Amino acid sequence: MKHETQVRLIEELIGQLDTGTNADAGGFRRNPTSVYVDPEHAAKEWEAFFRNHPQIVGLSGDLPEPGSFMTVDDFGVPIIASRDADGRFMAMVNACRHRGALVVEEERGTSRRFTCRFHSWTYDNGGALVGMPKREHFGAIDTNCHGLIRLPAVEKDGVLWVHPQPDGTIDVDSLLTPELTAELSSWNLGELQADGRMTFDVACNWKLAIDTFGETYHFPSLHQNTINLGFHGNVSGHEKFGRNHRFLLCRRGIDHVRTLPQEQWNITEAATPAYWLFPNIQLIVTDFGAFFIRICPDPKNPAHHISKITIFFRPGTSGSQEELDAHRELQRHLSQFFTDIIRDEDYVMSASQQVTANSGALTHIVFGRNEPALHHYHNTYRAALGMELLPLLSDVND
Ligand code: FES
Ligand SMILES: [Fe+2]
Repeated sequence: MKHETQVRLIEELIGQLDTGTNADAGGFRRNPTSVYVDPEHAAKEWEAFFRNHPQIVGLSGDLPEPGSFMTVDDFGVPIIASRDADGRFMAMVNACRHRGALVVEEERGTSRRFTCRFHSWTYDNGGALVGMPKREHFGAIDTNCHGLIRLPAVEKDGVLWVHPQPDGTIDVDSLLTPELTAELSSWNLGELQADGRMTFDVACNWKLAIDTFGETYHFPSLHQNTINLGFHGNVSGHEKFGRNHRFLLCRRGIDHVRTLPQEQWNITEAATPAYWLFPNIQLIVTDFGAFFIRICPDPKNPAHHISKITIFFRPGTSGSQEELDAHRELQRHLSQFFTDIIRDEDYVMSASQQVTANSGALTHIVFGRNEPALHHYHNTYRAALGMELLPLLSDVND
């Protein structure tokens, strides 16, 4: 992030702290609870945002070397994401061209070849069909026409993009905006190493999971004995980048940062930036790495989702081996702390919200002036689905 942007954002947070204010959406919005339960709405999201939309499947560190691969099965099409022998990022449909078995069953690994367990057709890690037992028995087919189906795949600034449809397109600048592309590029995400993974299976709609990352109003209440000790609640920064946004959580470290000359101000000491990357990514940047969260809907059940979290470590910030080990340990510690809170506090509330949404007891819930990221997020997907936008209201009393 440009230093002038860091200073501007830190000044904004200090301004809020000093005046007892918060980011301000300028009014309220009422959100219908049906968006969390309606199967028709969920089906539209699934088609528009998942099956037929570019997806961020990971960061470069998820595929650390030539031959690295991972399978992704979150968009209706089973996918192999891999690096070929030259380290190029590729994506293919994980379906054997013989009779359609999954070719790769492991979640991740490193391999030069993928061999289908059924009859041992073998593909290289770029998807070319390179081996068939008993070809003379099977019959003459052109192996060039029977490689794994390639999917559009782009690796840019350390982010791995795949389109689940072979004829789909991925235009990162238009998806993220040039400003956000430049900002993400400045984090050097390509340097990050994957250093731990976890999966949370939660009885809530995927959007309720995203909602919990969009305000700090809940810190002094829900997180009074956890996050609130390290962060100022009721202070936040919110900036839109097209369909995406950057949300800032204000660290208590800002109390020290503000005593330093501005040239020494560092945004990750003063705050924790959390990027929402449309449709379902939370990317949270920390001093020593990042948390990368893919919030995956369940196409069969709007009241269920799975969050897949990868912890990334940035080795480049360290000098000696001792320092490196200490930083890695700190990042692990912080990761455990954060992910425990997400699971035990935030997602418990998300599941609780789902219970009442399922009941239909409330037709609407309300987003306050201090929850602008939620205003933006909900109107963003509504606009993308051609739905009427939630109006900004000055009064919600009736
Ligand atoms: S289905 Fe894969 S080799 Fe037959
Ligand atoms: Fe929270």
